[in-house]
Amino acid sequence: MLSSRNDGPRRGRSFDSMSTGRLEKQHEVNKSASSKAEETKTLLPRKGNASTISCLKDEIGVLVKALHLFQENHLNTETRKRRNSELGLVDESNSDSQQLKETIKLLQKHLKLTEMDPKDRSSLPEYDLSDVPWFPKKISDLDKCANRVLMYGSDLDADHPGFKDNVYRKRRKYFADLAMTYKHGEPIPRVEFMTEEVQTWGVVFRELNKLYPTHACREYLQNIPLLSQHCGYREDNIPQLEDVSCFLKERTGFSIRPVAGYLSPRDFLAGLAFRVFHCTQYVRHQSDPLYTPEPDTCHELLGHVPLLADPSFAQFSQELGLASLGASDDSVQKLATCYFFTVEFGLCKQEGRLRAYGAGLLSSIGELKHALSGNANILPFNPEVTCKQECLITTFQDVYFLSESFEEAKGKMREFAKTIKRPFTVRYNPYTQSVAVLKDMPSISSVVEELRHDLDIVGDALQRLNKHMGI
Ligand SMILES: [Fe+2]
Repeated sequence: MLSSRNDGPRRGRSFDSMSTGRLEKQHEVNKSASSKAEETKTLLPRKGNASTISCLKDEIGVLVKALHLFQENHLNTETRKRRNSELGLVDESNSDSQQLKETIKLLQKHLKLTEMDPKDRSSLPEYDLSDVPWFPKKISDLDKCANRVLMYGSDLDADHPGFKDNVYRKRRKYFADLAMTYKHGEPIPRVEFMTEEVQTWGVVFRELNKLYPTHACREYLQNIPLLSQHCGYREDNIPQLEDVSCFLKERTGFSIRPVAGYLSPRDFLAGLAFRVFHCTQYVRHQSDPLYTPEPDTCHELLGHVPLLADPSFAQFSQELGLASLGASDDSVQKLATCYFFTVEFGLCKQEGRLRAYGAGLLSSIGELKHALSGNANILPFNPEVTCKQECLITTFQDVYFLSESFEEAKGKMREFAKTIKRPFTVRYNPYTQSVAVLKDMPSISSVVEELRHDLDIVGDALQRLNKHMGI
């Protein structure tokens, strides 16, 4: 549950430091007295954010301290001591309503603040957030949802190629246990792959690499040599997830997290919001190297990883994830469908030719050929339409969606994300690897401050460039 509770002062002098014991005692007096309706209030109808504070008649000392607090916080206010010990506060300038609100929050801890006038509409009421589904706020929160796999380790369906293979099932349990005990911040355990597993990987790697030059998008082809160089992408070697994760962190800030099986769309997309990609580590069954009914490490390493090393694609993936945080089940399903037809089965056009960027295509020889054969049904990517398309798991897709570029897809998804019903928006903080929930003026103002600083940097850079160029 999202808490919108403000736990106290964030800047300026704490009200508590002025006279803690006295004020706490006074607060108790206020509580009991307020039930007797001994207080009165007054509204001061002035421009700006006029507020009133009502106090008990015998609280002169507290009123003085309240006045002192306003002065210390440099509020440009007019205060009026009125009959019956009332204190009226008017923000004359309307220039720093955030500071006013923070000061009032301080006062709320100690005095009976009865009303603000005009009504404060700068933050969303708490009840608006009460129905928001839980979502991770910081990257380590993924520990709470990464193990909610829908299908676990050795629990294979009867039609799975490894269903009757006890050795394979035992191996799957080994990988599942590795993933289930993993915690954020730990290195991903290195695996000594068996000969059969390396052979299976080798077949997939060799056959797909024959198609990539003519079927994979430019960004994919640019990153494959880097992965060979830094992560050991070779026909006779299955790359270690830890090496891949370190490589991605340097390229785009993405990291890998091992997972035991399918996650729900909500949990999977939540990982993307933190630039975390949940990745299987097991290898498909050796009986049919070119077929797997579920994602395996061949699919992740050959399909997903090369694109996650592209900054624009990484941003696109993260924005899908951010849009899902706290969204309704229906919205998450729509986002997951858009993810499916872009990140998994997306097509783009480069130099006038169709190219694949979806991992489901780039890890499947048969479907990669089919999608670019000229016989596939291809529509322009439009989230409004795409989100209603049926996702097919056991057969080729009925339709594929084409984007001119990741930038174009990103732009469309951003517009679509704005239509998702959610009483707030979120912003990722890469320094703390957390998401800020933007739901009131203080949280939005802090973003504005950051943006202002960034714009200053850009302005300074342009000024220096102009000087250098003699403009
Ligand atoms: Fe995938």
